[in-house]
Amino acid sequence: MIKKSLFLLLLVLTACQPSNNFKNPVSDVASLGLVPKPQEVQLKKGAFLFDADMPFVIDSGVDNRIDGFVKKEFPHHKIIKNKYSFKGKGIVLSLIKSDTLLQKEMYLLDISPNGVLISADTSQGLFYGLQTLRQLFPDVMDDTKQDTLPALHIFDRPQFGWRGAHLDVSRHFFGMDFIKKYVDLLAKHKMNTFHWHLVDDQAWRIEIKSYPKLTKIGSVRKETVVKKHFKPFVGDGKAYGGYYTQDEIREVVAYARERYVNIIPEIEMPGHSLAALAAYPQYSCTGGPFEVGTKWGVFKDIYCAGNDSTFVFLENILDEVMDLFPSKYIHIGGDEAPKTRWKACAKCQQRIKQEHLKDEKALQSYFIKRIEKYVNSKGRQIIGWDEILQGGLAPKATVMSWRGEKGGIAAAQQNHSVIMTPMKPCYFDHYQSKDKDKEPFAIGGYNPLRAVYNYNPIPKELPANKRGHVLGSQANVWTEYMASTEQVEYMAYPRICALSEVLWTGSSRDSYDDFIQRLKRHFHRLDAWKVHYRHLTKEDE
Ligand code: ACM
Ligand code: ZN
Repeated sequence: MIKKSLFLLLLVLTACQPSNNFKNPVSDVASLGLVPKPQEVQLKKGAFLFDADMPFVIDSGVDNRIDGFVKKEFPHHKIIKNKYSFKGKGIVLSLIKSDTLLQKEMYLLDISPNGVLISADTSQGLFYGLQTLRQLFPDVMDDTKQDTLPALHIFDRPQFGWRGAHLDVSRHFFGMDFIKKYVDLLAKHKMNTFHWHLVDDQAWRIEIKSYPKLTKIGSVRKETVVKKHFKPFVGDGKAYGGYYTQDEIREVVAYARERYVNIIPEIEMPGHSLAALAAYPQYSCTGGPFEVGTKWGVFKDIYCAGNDSTFVFLENILDEVMDLFPSKYIHIGGDEAPKTRWKACAKCQQRIKQEHLKDEKALQSYFIKRIEKYVNSKGRQIIGWDEILQGGLAPKATVMSWRGEKGGIAAAQQNHSVIMTPMKPCYFDHYQSKDKDKEPFAIGGYNPLRAVYNYNPIPKELPANKRGHVLGSQANVWTEYMASTEQVEYMAYPRICALSEVLWTGSSRDSYDDFIQRLKRHFHRLDAWKVHYRHLTKEDE
C-alpha cells in the first residue's frame, strides 16, 4: 500500500508537466504481445514520444547491471545518475524502499505522455521492468530513431521464485556463444535459473584442474550411436568431444549474473558417471577399464560407495565447482543409479555392514547424505533428482521431481523444497506434435505447447500448508537427439515462452488462446533474436 501511494505521488508530479497529444497506438493489451504476460496491464490515454536524446535516469542505489542493460539496448542514450537533479522527460528507473516487504522481483511500469517510470524494490525488479519496456519497442531497435510508446500502467511480479531451464551439454556439446544466447533468452523471458547439466556417461565437460584426465579422456567419445540403433549397435564412427575451460565457465557465470540468471551446475553421482570412470576407473567398484559412453541409456558402472577415496575425489571436484559457481544450490544428480555393481562389490557390502544400512538403496542414501554434509560444510545446499528419496532423504536436500510429481509431493510432505519438472510436460526433448513423422527425430513422448501452457507446478493433492515448498519449475532439455543449436532452439521455443508464463504470470494467466495471440506477436521478437523456434501448426491453435 505504501508503495502504491508513493507511486501515485510520483505520477501526479510527472502529470503536472506539459504533455503531447499523441494517440495511444494500441487499443488492446493483447496486441502488445507481452510474454510472459504481466499481472496487470491498463492502457491509458495518449502516448509517450521517445526521442533520440531522451536520457535514462537511474537511481544512485541501482546495481550497475541495470546501467549495463541500458547501454546495451540503448547505446546512444545518456545515463543520468542523479534523479534529483533531473528535470524534463526521460526514462526514470527508481528504487522505492518501503517498510512493506514486497516481492524482490516485482516492478511497476508507468508510461504517460510525460515520461516513463519504472519503480521497484530491487534492481532485479527494475531489470524485469526494463525487459517489459524493451518488448514495447520495435523488435530490431535503432535507438537513434524516435519511437512512440503506448501510455499504460503495469503492475507485475512473478508467482514462482524458481523459473528455470536446464540444458544437457554432455550428450551434445554447445559452444560458448550458444550457452550465452540460451541464458540471454531465458532472461528475456524473465526466467532466472539455468541448470547446466555438465557431466554424464557420454562426456565430462567441465575442466577440473586437480583431475585433468576428466576432460582429456572423459570429454571425448569415440563415436555416437545412430538414432536408436543400440542393439545391434550402429555408430557413426566419428569421435565427438568438447569441454569448457574454467575461464570459460567464469565468463558464462558473469554473463548470466548480468542478466539475473543463477546457474546451477550439475555433477552427476553416483550414477551417470561412466565418462568420469573412463578417466579414473579406480573410483568404480570393478576397477574398469571403461570407455566413455557411445550410446544413450543407463549404465551399470557407477562410483563405488565403499571406497573412501571416491568421496575424496568427488569432494575435490566439488571444491573446484563451488569455486566457479556462486550458486547456493549445487545439483549432485542422484538419478538412475543401478545397484548391480554395489551388490557384487566387497567394499560396498562392507560399507553396508559397517554403517548398519538395510540395503543398497540405503547405501545410495548414505552416499548422498555424505556428499550433502560436505556441500553444507561449504555453506551450500544440494539438489538431487527424485531418486534421492530412496532409502531416506538427506536432511536439507531440495528434490527435483522428474518421474512425475510423486517424488516432489513426498518431499514437500517432508518439508523439503521441491522443483517440479515432471516428464509430462517439462521434458522438452519430447515431441511437440502427434504427427511424429513430420517432426525431427526425438527421444519420444508428446509434450505439446498447450500442455506446457496449462501446467500447474502446484499439485492438487498437496495440502495448502505444504504448497510453499514448491519453489517452481523448469524445462529439461536433454540432448541425445539434438546435435545442433538449431535443434535445441526448435525443441525449447516456443515451449519456454509458455513455461515462462506458467511461472511468471502463474494462476492469473489468461486462456491458452490469449497466449497464442500474444505469441504470434512475440514470434517477431524471436525472429529478431535469431531463434530457430518451431512454428505453430493447426494442432497448436
Ligand atoms: C533424468 O531424466 N534422468 C533426470
Ligand atoms: Zn563398490
